[in-house]
Amino acid sequence: MTKPLSIPAKAYARRRRQLMRMAGDDAILVLPAAPERIRSRDTHYPFRQDSDLLYLTGFPEPEAVLVLVPGRKHGETLLFCRERDLEREGWDGPRFGPEGAVEAFGMDDAYPITDLDDILPGLLEGRSRVYYHFGRDQEFDLKLIGWLNRVRAMVRQGAQPPHEFLELGHLLDELRLFKDRDELKLMRRAAEISVRAHEAAMRIARPGIREYELQAEIEREFRRHDAQPAYGSIVGAGANACVLHYHANAAAAKDGDLVLIDAGAEYRGYAADITRTFPVNGRFTAAQRALHDLVCDAQAAALAQARVGVPYEAGHVAAVETLTEGLLRLGLLKGKLGKNLADGSYKRFYRHKTGHWLGLDVHDVGEYRIDGQSRLLEPGMVFTIEPGLYIGADDTSVEAKWRGIGIRIEDDVLVTADGPTVLTDALARRADQVEALMADPARAA
Ligand code: GLY
Ligand code: MN
Ligand code: MN
Repeated sequence: MTKPLSIPAKAYARRRRQLMRMAGDDAILVLPAAPERIRSRDTHYPFRQDSDLLYLTGFPEPEAVLVLVPGRKHGETLLFCRERDLEREGWDGPRFGPEGAVEAFGMDDAYPITDLDDILPGLLEGRSRVYYHFGRDQEFDLKLIGWLNRVRAMVRQGAQPPHEFLELGHLLDELRLFKDRDELKLMRRAAEISVRAHEAAMRIARPGIREYELQAEIEREFRRHDAQPAYGSIVGAGANACVLHYHANAAAAKDGDLVLIDAGAEYRGYAADITRTFPVNGRFTAAQRALHDLVCDAQAAALAQARVGVPYEAGHVAAVETLTEGLLRLGLLKGKLGKNLADGSYKRFYRHKTGHWLGLDVHDVGEYRIDGQSRLLEPGMVFTIEPGLYIGADDTSVEAKWRGIGIRIEDDVLVTADGPTVLTDALARRADQVEALMADPARAA
């Protein structure tokens, strides 16, 4: 797993061409880099490039703006970026500079970011439609309005200001939803790294271990493979597993506890998102196993719906049916199946949806519904399937043996014409597989 992977320049160029074709020749598209964010005083949060800019260029630096001007004779793909500055580079590391951006990123032209103010009004002039993410970055919104006003002020001299303002995501999210071959290579790598990380955590688990020690093991595997967490790793022992976005990760796992780990690697910008729930001592109790089996069954039922032409929502519906049936069978719900399904009584124990699109963002872009209907699955879509059950520690309405159990099982699925491919399939999932992995002699004593 050592060979680094990347997206070839021609793939970025193809994406930009597709987007420009969708936008049309009278449009202009403006995409700023992610802003740098201060953590405290003079320390910054780690910089993460804006996903759209990554998707269209791979350009990694802050203080940059991509401008796409379809059909423009003197170049359609323009990048504004920081100039080389040897003094600053001595502190922060190398920069590409405009020349480097043209060479390394296949831009038609590139300019210093400091020239944006002078150049952008001229690019807006004569274009009727502006595609941009309005409202994402207020500072940049104001700049864009300022440039538009500069064009408007020239109307009597014959300038033609844009008159339609459109949400860029309307076009771009739809492109990003369908993963191309190059992206899938990176997503498979992110999945593979994440699988290894979860295995590593299961192998070192033992009663008394702290949640942060498991987190450290997971993230150590990520970094060893040139990846990083795609989101804050969730490591919840015992009833902490019932906190859906648990992040304290500081408690000790007691003998007899289940541990829920929801953690995924980001590799070259692409996320994996995996959850496993395992007994810290390597053995499920009967009650834990019964609920774990049920969540596995719900996941399998959802996976069976991950087929071309099936509504996206069918997976959630199938998971909910399976969970409700099982909860009735185990006595956690009472009454008839039909009534329970109609009432949504499962929501007491299952509060979230069964998945989300996955890609450059862990909760990736793309519509789930079109014209009020769940959209139909198509090849190239990638999403998670992550049913769970969470029984509060103080839920006295259920038998004591169920209380404080939280379980989620989450895998990443690619839709293909030949059926679903589970990108994270290599990781032990069913209770027996998990126990076998944890009983492996390679497991630390
Ligand atoms: N880790 C966030 C999620 O599962 O959606
Ligand atoms: Mn998820
Ligand atoms: Mn997750």
